Amino acid sequence: MATRQFEGKEHASDYQKFGLEPSNKIIDLIFSYVNERFPKPYGFAVDVGCGTGQNTRTLSPYFKKVLGIDISEAQIEEAKKATGSPNVTYSVCPAEEVPVGDASVDLLTASIAAHWFNIEQFLKEVDRILKPGGCLAIFAYIPSIEVHYKDCSEQMNQVFAEVEASLVPYEHEKIQHLRNGYKELYESIPYTDKRRIENIVTKFRVPLARVLGIIQTFPMYPIYLETKPEEAKEMMRTAEERCLQLMGTSSSETEVEMWLQNVLILASKPE
Ligand SMILES: C[S@@+](CC[C@H](N)C(=O)[O-])C[C@H]1O[C@@H](n2cnc3c(N)ncnc32)[C@H](O)[C@@H]1O
Repeated sequence: MATRQFEGKEHASDYQKFGLEPSNKIIDLIFSYVNERFPKPYGFAVDVGCGTGQNTRTLSPYFKKVLGIDISEAQIEEAKKATGSPNVTYSVCPAEEVPVGDASVDLLTASIAAHWFNIEQFLKEVDRILKPGGCLAIFAYIPSIEVHYKDCSEQMNQVFAEVEASLVPYEHEKIQHLRNGYKELYESIPYTDKRRIENIVTKFRVPLARVLGIIQTFPMYPIYLETKPEEAKEMMRTAEERCLQLMGTSSSETEVEMWLQNVLILASKPE
């Protein structure tokens, strides 16, 4: 059965506001793999568990047609509000039953989403819908943030470590797949042409406010907020205050460098 953690409208709107587009590093790794396997122009991509569409929209310049699907209506509603690309469409449906024909897809992506799927059913669906030679790209960042700012990085990371520790009791067991670098998922992929790349560090210059916003998009945060609303809000307020004090500024719009650890799985269906 599918796991439903992203149904809230408020969480979907935070996701739209704070969610990250995949970094160029990840996109370059995906397309150098795809380029080695089939020539341009690329036809059809499906982004599974697309959320509010950050990754879906990134694919749009490369493909004639892109479909983003997600099990959460609230997420798809936000994705539809944001799209400006005529070749991108969205649909509410599960990753285990993608509404496209057999052998019709050139590239299937799942960004920060595959750990929620029923892996066995999802991989069967991947095999049904990929064209022979078609590619699968599954990637995610680990929900643990490192921040760099002048000479106070160490102290700021202590603040973020405490924030993350407060969220641990609300963490779904499926996040463990991600913390394990998607090892089991990788081993379940039935293709011989496959690779798993761990420890890809991506760096973003973002305002401190965005870092705090990204933490609120972690699926544990809405559960914490629902269980202990005052404590959850206070934790975020205190984290912001402590960071501002360390940085010697009063503005949360001050930019910091945020580092994320990613894992990427690439695989190709046999010809
Ligand atoms: C962390 S969000 C990632 C969203 C987006 N791909 C991104 O990169 O920001 C995970 C998404 O997976 C979706 N999801 C979870 N289980 C799903 C399933 N079985 N089928 C389709 N989508 C699913 C959730 O609704 C949520 O929008």
